[in-house]
Amino acid sequence: MKKKIKRIGILTGGGDCPGLNAVIRAVAKTAINVYGMQVIGFQDGFSGLVMDKTIPLGYDHVSNILTQGGTILGTSNKDNFFGVKRNESQRVIPGQNRLKDALRIYRKHKLEGLICVGGDGTLTVGYHLHQSGIPVIGVPKTIDNDVMHTDQTFGFDSAVWIATLAVDRLHSTAASHRRVMIVEVMGRSAGWIALHSGMAGGGDIILIPEIPYDLKKVYSVVQKRFQKGRRFSIIVVAEGAHRKGETPIYMKKAHNLGGISAQLAENIEKDTGIECRFTVLGHLQRGGTPTPFDRVLATRYGHHAAHLAAAGEFGHMVSLKNSAIESVHLSLVAGVPRRIPLDFPLLQTARDVGTSFGD
Ligand code: F6P
Repeated sequence: MKKKIKRIGILTGGGDCPGLNAVIRAVAKTAINVYGMQVIGFQDGFSGLVMDKTIPLGYDHVSNILTQGGTILGTSNKDNFFGVKRNESQRVIPGQNRLKDALRIYRKHKLEGLICVGGDGTLTVGYHLHQSGIPVIGVPKTIDNDVMHTDQTFGFDSAVWIATLAVDRLHSTAASHRRVMIVEVMGRSAGWIALHSGMAGGGDIILIPEIPYDLKKVYSVVQKRFQKGRRFSIIVVAEGAHRKGETPIYMKKAHNLGGISAQLAENIEKDTGIECRFTVLGHLQRGGTPTPFDRVLATRYGHHAAHLAAAGEFGHMVSLKNSAIESVHLSLVAGVPRRIPLDFPLLQTARDVGTSFGD
């Protein structure tokens, strides 16, 4: 007979996103209500685990947090405690490996499992910990939607909603002034936010990292629109998008993408004479309350993660597949970001309704 799991830990890692608190609440409430477990939270991502920063997660602690943005546990997307290659923004401290501390603190708290809520970086570290003796369950989080083997991460829908509102609002001011408006959205090396918000907001051109663009094609689309009497053009550009034969643009801090919309605006104005403005949405896409869809998805994920923990099914990530919640082995998820496949049907849908990808 399987032993009864009595105590689990949970942490949130990587960049925050709307819905993290909904997952924490669902994990804790399910674990407490259904299985009578105790749950503790580690603060500030993996640093809480190696530095022993914990908070109890009793029923009352997780009440009334469903709609709150951010994470009551805190998070970090810069630390690298285990020498595991996470992502381009990690702070690598040579020679540092705090695995022994992590194991000691995990045991000190008499835990029998750890739920790691995060994107591909956190899940990669989670898999490493799992292989090193801490049983882990992963929950896929990120506005970027770039986690493998799940149809959607929570946080993505909320980011798309904010980006779509921005695209909607820019239409009227663009039309008033006969301008090209460029909206730069996040997403790292994946164009999911740009594709979805661009389609939802009726963007005329959507530029994504998966389809390097040709500046001349972009010019031709906006020029033709003005020749046809359209008073504006809207371009939605992913922060990781780049021209054919070039690489993405990074901001001063070498590890953060950003700046493509400013460069594009300058090029369009200079080469076509059409007035251009750009808006960088940045962290607006990460802050604030989750959409209803994300609240429900995060709750389903947290609920399933608690069930997996109770069943002792560690080494898995909860996932969404064709509207059902399933799980997939962490080894399949670790280390590989999910980008938009070039045969993804939505790309053709967008093309068929007249959207250009600048190619
Ligand atoms: O991964 C989420 C994300 O918001 C990316 O879209 C973006 O490139 C990055 O994090 C920004 O990170 P930071 O919080 O370090 O500015």
